[in-house]
This record gives sequence, structure tokens and C-alpha cells, in this order.
Amino acid sequence: MFVITGAGGRTGRAAALYLLAAGYRVRAVGRSAQRLADLATRGAEVWGTDPMDPAALTSAFRGAEGIYAVIQPNYIPDHPDFGAFQDQAAASLTKAVTESGVTRVVGLSSWGARHPKGTGPVMGLHRFERRLSTVPGVDALWLRAGYFAENLLDHIDTARAHHRISAPFDPDIPLPFVTTSDIGARAGEELATGTWHGTEVLELQGERDVSMREVVGVIANAVRADSLTYEQTSLADFHAELRSKGVSVDVADMMAEVGEAVNSRYTRTEQPRTARTSTPTSIERFIEEEFAPRYRAPRRG
Ligand SMILES: NC(=O)c1ccc[n+]([C@@H]2O[C@H](COP(=O)([O-])OP(=O)(O)OC[C@H]3O[C@@H](n4cnc5c(N)ncnc54)[C@H](OP(=O)(O)O)[C@@H]3O)[C@@H](O)[C@H]2O)c1
Repeated sequence: MFVITGAGGRTGRAAALYLLAAGYRVRAVGRSAQRLADLATRGAEVWGTDPMDPAALTSAFRGAEGIYAVIQPNYIPDHPDFGAFQDQAAASLTKAVTESGVTRVVGLSSWGARHPKGTGPVMGLHRFERRLSTVPGVDALWLRAGYFAENLLDHIDTARAHHRISAPFDPDIPLPFVTTSDIGARAGEELATGTWHGTEVLELQGERDVSMREVVGVIANAVRADSLTYEQTSLADFHAELRSKGVSVDVADMMAEVGEAVNSRYTRTEQPRTARTSTPTSIERFIEEEFAPRYRAPRRG
């Protein structure tokens, strides 16, 4: 039996679905069992468990062959100290791994997590890796995922209304766009059949590196919007825009730091691109299946 934390989220749900489809027993953990109901209908045992409660997580982890450990959510826009939130979640997961006796963990981390500083929210994932990897007797595989393709979905409204996609990234910098469903599937596969020992790191770099300029071309083609352009926002404007949307100073600082780290190549992929570090879904397929239908959908409300 495998335990999937964050089963109500994107990568966790995909990990649970992969394992269920492959015939494994899955215990799906999220804050609300009700929100995991569809996994229950597919055969998962669902546990409504507060991820910040180490005792509850310990019970959920008991008897597992392995667990998928993820700090959720991606980020909390108005949080005054998101790093402290990440540390609390990491401490809870680590305590539960220690107390439950689980020996195999696949954890979600990020490209750039090698660095202790200068990477925005990825710093919390660096600390998560360090903390959990010190538990004696645990084999931990850290999936250092690239830039989530789903981040592009945040641009749909501006693309439709202003024919523009703006972000702080240099238009030609190569980005390892990876889909959350590919990450989750790989997490499930590694739990079921992986043979790593001790602490290992595996970057998930997507199908290929793609620049923002190329992505916007793919989107323009898919939604037949010839006038769609990419605009690189300055870090100061990006920060101000986030603040105007109610994002806390702490989170806006972190997000701007991501832009800086990526543009300077401080955050970059470091493992060779191979079959193991690559994932199947191309940016074209993601845009066609996930971005374009939402772009075309009539606006709600
Ligand atoms: N974005 C990127 O490019 C990128 C790249 C590499 C790594 N990452 C990492 O990926 C992880 C996110 O993974 P994911 O995409 O699978 O998660 P996710 O889909 O963002 O998680 C969403 C879930 O988080 C839970 N949640 C929402 N608000 C919460 C709160 N205030 N407190 C606790 N839980 C809350 C909810 O689940 P329940 O209600 O069911 O509990 C919700 O369904 C983060 O650690 C992020 O740093 C992101």
C-alpha cells in the first residue's frame, strides 16, 4: 500500500491515479476526505488528514510500503511568511515518516533546490529535502521538477483580453516545462518500481526545453491568435503587479526572486537530459489539451 499526500492537488492526484490504474493499493491523504471522493470511487482508501498534524499523518503513514511527500499548496498568495509555512509542513511530514517507520519516500522538490538561498519558494524545498533526508534508514528520492506547464494557465485572461502574455523571464531562456500529471505519474512509477537507495535526486525536465517566446508561438497557433505577443516584465513591475493583486510582500519577493534566479541561470537544470530526466507530454500537447479549451471557453460569472 502506498500513501499519497496532497492527493487533492495536481501531482498527488496524478500519482494516486497512476498507482490505482496499475493495480496498487492507495491511501489518499488530503485535508478533506470529501474532496477525495472521486479517488475513493476508483478504489483508494481516503483519509481526511491535516498535513500540519504529525500525529494524524503518522497514523496515515503506518503500514505503507512507500509514500509520496508533497508540500501543498503551490504557494499561498497572501501568506505573510510562506517559508515558515513550508517549514511547518516539512517538519510534520518528516516527523510522521520517522514515527511511522516508513522507509521509502518520493518527495516533490524543484529545479534549483540545490541552492539554500536566492531561489524564492524553492528555498523551502531545499530545506524540506535536507530535513527529511536525515531520517535514519529512509530511502528518499527527490523529484526536482522543472517549471510547471500549468503556471501558463494563469495567463489565459490577459492573453484573451490583451493579446499579450507577460512574465519576468527572458524571452529566449530555455525553460524545462513539465506537466503536473507527468510528475505525479513518475512519482507513482518510482514508488511502485523504483530501485534507488539512500538519498537520490532526479530532475524532471519535461519533454524538451522551451523558451517563453516559443511557448507563446505555440499558444498563438493553437488558439489562432496571430497578434499574441510575449512581453518580458521588469522584476520591479512584476512585483508591483503581484502586490496590486493582494499578494503579500513575502510572496511577491519570492516570486520576483524566481525571475531573477532563472534569468541569471542561477536556477537551471543540472542533470543531463536523458529518458529518465525527460517526461512525455510536449508543450504543444499541453497547450492543445489544457490551455486552448480554457482560452476558448466562455467566461463565467
Ligand atoms: N509551480 C512550479 O513551477 C513548481 C515547480 C517545482 C515544484 N513545485 C512545488 O510543487 C508543490 C505543489 O504541488 P501540487 O501542484 O501538486 O500542489 P497543488 O495542486 O498546488 O495543491 C493544491 C492543494 O493544496 C491544498 N491546499 C490549498 N490551500 C491550502 C492551505 N492553505 N494549506 C494547506 N493545504 C492547502 C488543497 O488540497 P486539500 O484541500 O485536499 O488539502 C489543494 O487542492 C509545491 O511544493 C511547489 O513548491 C512547483
